[in-house]
Amino acid sequence: MSKSFDVIVIGAGPGGYIAAIRAAQLGFSVACVDEWKNAKGGPAPGGTCTNVGCIPSKALLQSSEHYEHAAQHFADHGIEVKGLGLDVAKMLGRKDTVIKQNNDGILYLLKKNKVAFFHGRASFAAAKDGVYEVNVAGAASEAISGKHIIVATGSNARALPGTPFDEDKVLSNDGALRIGAVPKKLGLIGSGVIGLEMGSVWRRLGAEVTILEGLPTFLGAVDEQIAKEAKKAFDKQGLKIELGVKVGEIKTSKTGVNIAYTNAKGEAHNLAVDKLIVSIGRVPNTIGLNAEAVGMALDERGAIVVDAECKTNLPNVWAVGDVVRGPMLAHKAEEEGVAVAERIAGQHGHVNFNTIPWVIYTSPEIAWVGRTEQQLKADGVAYKAGTFPFLANGRARALGDTTGMVKMLADASTDEILGVHIVGPMASELIAECVVAMEFRASSEDLARICHAHPSLSEATKEAALAVDKRTLNF
Ligand code: FAD
Ligand code: NAI
Repeated sequence: MSKSFDVIVIGAGPGGYIAAIRAAQLGFSVACVDEWKNAKGGPAPGGTCTNVGCIPSKALLQSSEHYEHAAQHFADHGIEVKGLGLDVAKMLGRKDTVIKQNNDGILYLLKKNKVAFFHGRASFAAAKDGVYEVNVAGAASEAISGKHIIVATGSNARALPGTPFDEDKVLSNDGALRIGAVPKKLGLIGSGVIGLEMGSVWRRLGAEVTILEGLPTFLGAVDEQIAKEAKKAFDKQGLKIELGVKVGEIKTSKTGVNIAYTNAKGEAHNLAVDKLIVSIGRVPNTIGLNAEAVGMALDERGAIVVDAECKTNLPNVWAVGDVVRGPMLAHKAEEEGVAVAERIAGQHGHVNFNTIPWVIYTSPEIAWVGRTEQQLKADGVAYKAGTFPFLANGRARALGDTTGMVKMLADASTDEILGVHIVGPMASELIAECVVAMEFRASSEDLARICHAHPSLSEATKEAALAVDKRTLNF
């Protein structure tokens, strides 16, 4: 007899482990299966996010930012640094410790919530009388069964056709997070989120970084004014970004990688680098799931087809996170996981796609929620815009980082906030207030009338709200 559960969650990334915990909180017996292995072959729950994504990239962004501050900015504060050195192995070791703390934290949380954790690859075996049989192939293989299945199997890096990742010269996000020594020249293909974050890490540590981007516009999904401001800052830092390129043949040798490409003017060029990171998006992961055994529908991109409530085409089978439509973000996966667990319990779980924040953790940080000015124009919405530069914010001056601005967009007649776009220091934290405001359908006047601590960066948000009504107090 296989062990049976009310709910089986496949995948313990942010979508999966959070769904498992919420389902357990709601009184279900829950199993969570994840195949990720640590260096010793043991379980490493947390998925892409914890092992090769959000967490390790932020650890390296922090370390590299400290290094750049020590090298370039401490002197402005009257702090002299002599003999500044870099120990890449130690930096990577610290990052690995942070990963392990998160892996262990998730194992603890699963145990605390009485979720049965299985280490191995889960695949559908059969569906009988409303019960799904799932095989777990791990150190010890076993069969389990469940009434409800939540698939949260995430995504993998997309490779360029004909150029597979070898994780030595041609790197995915995985290899990009464990380059053993700072490359003299680093190339990246794709100036999206990973390209900018990982490009920033290795540039700060001393690499000459060139990013080749296929699209003619920089960060097309970001508000144009904000993207322009960010590009100016990246140019100043020496992060080379070539837009509108067409990547041709890529040749790998013992010493490096040569990328043939044509630039926006159609001129042929070669880029010779020591390492190449390919960051051109990610593909949903259903490898090994044996979705065919139960007839689960996938779309042409390989994503599991779900409706607005994350229901698949199969009764009581749900899917959340990167493996389904929508933005590939950890917090989106988590929200879907919670909502699905609540729906299984007969509750009304809800995810508001209009208020999912985005953050790019570069310096300056870029963060936004809601619609951009371009989108409002395209949608024919009459709006008012207010901007406030960090240059005029006392805390930003004291920090020594006055790059960027807060931009607020509000409905021209109702004043409801429709979007907030930030480029500048701690944008990742500042955006939270704007998400709350939009969730409560606040007007720009609501934000403008709220008392914000002085001196704080958040005053720039209040001032941007005042700017919507053309009445800034400090600019
Ligand atoms: P995943 O995290 O991919 O987890 C899926 C899990 O399922 C994995 O552990 C996998 O091993 C397991 N699995 C798959 N198939 C099976 C199977 N058949 N049996 C058992 N287990 C299986 N997002 C943010 O919001 N903020 C960030 O700062 C951020 N930074 C990122 C940086 C990088 C470099 C990358 C690559 C991504 C980043 N992301 C970030 C995106 C984020 O990592 C993903 O959106 C998020 O991890 C998706 O969660 P998920 O649970 O859907 O899938
Ligand atoms: P992305 O979608 O952000 O960017 C990919 C870029 O590559 C795009 O600008 C695209 O135009 C370009 N591109 C695609 N094919 C190309 C080609 N053949 N030649 C040249 N350019 C090409 O994808 P990325 O950076 O790989 O990240 C994947 C996802 O991971 C992100 O979309 C995001 O969802 C998530 N992520 C989130 C982070 C965060 O929230 N801070 C950090 C890192 C990743």
